[in-house]
Amino acid sequence: MAIRFTLNGDETTLDVDPAKPLLWTLREDIGLPGTKFGCGAGLCGACTVHVDGVATRSCITPIGLIEGQSVTTIEAAGADPVGRHVVAAWCALDVPQCGYCQAGQIMNATAFLHEVPEPTDADIDAAMAGNLCRCASYTRIRAAIKDAAHKAKEA
Ligand code: FES
Ligand code: FES
Repeated sequence: MAIRFTLNGDETTLDVDPAKPLLWTLREDIGLPGTKFGCGAGLCGACTVHVDGVATRSCITPIGLIEGQSVTTIEAAGADPVGRHVVAAWCALDVPQCGYCQAGQIMNATAFLHEVPEPTDADIDAAMAGNLCRCASYTRIRAAIKDAAHKAKEA
């Protein structure tokens, strides 16, 4: 079945089983490996992308539901002004350890900062609580989100 959607700013048409998870469509059919598989059950956040700007767990989102919508993956995180600040802060503060969870962390953080441009620590902790990091980089993640929020406000 032909599914039409926008992917990282480009109109895309894909002939694929509509039940296939967006995560595996991105990785296997489109060749974008940045979005990661963690739990496959919507529990860890490693697979987070944006669908029409909303942080979405791609492992439990059938590609058929994406018809007509706009998907942004980590590969295009820097194309968004807020995303650019988030990526820069992640690099400046050396946030990742093994890095496996970080694409999902960045995508969730970017969607969050669009909603809450000047978050408190409690706001950040609540918003990021569903994105697990087995390397426990949570302190650096919080600092990077605050840094990105500050830079975005100055811009
Ligand atoms: S892989 Fe999607 S939430 Fe864990
Ligand atoms: S940096 Fe290793 S899982 Fe988060």
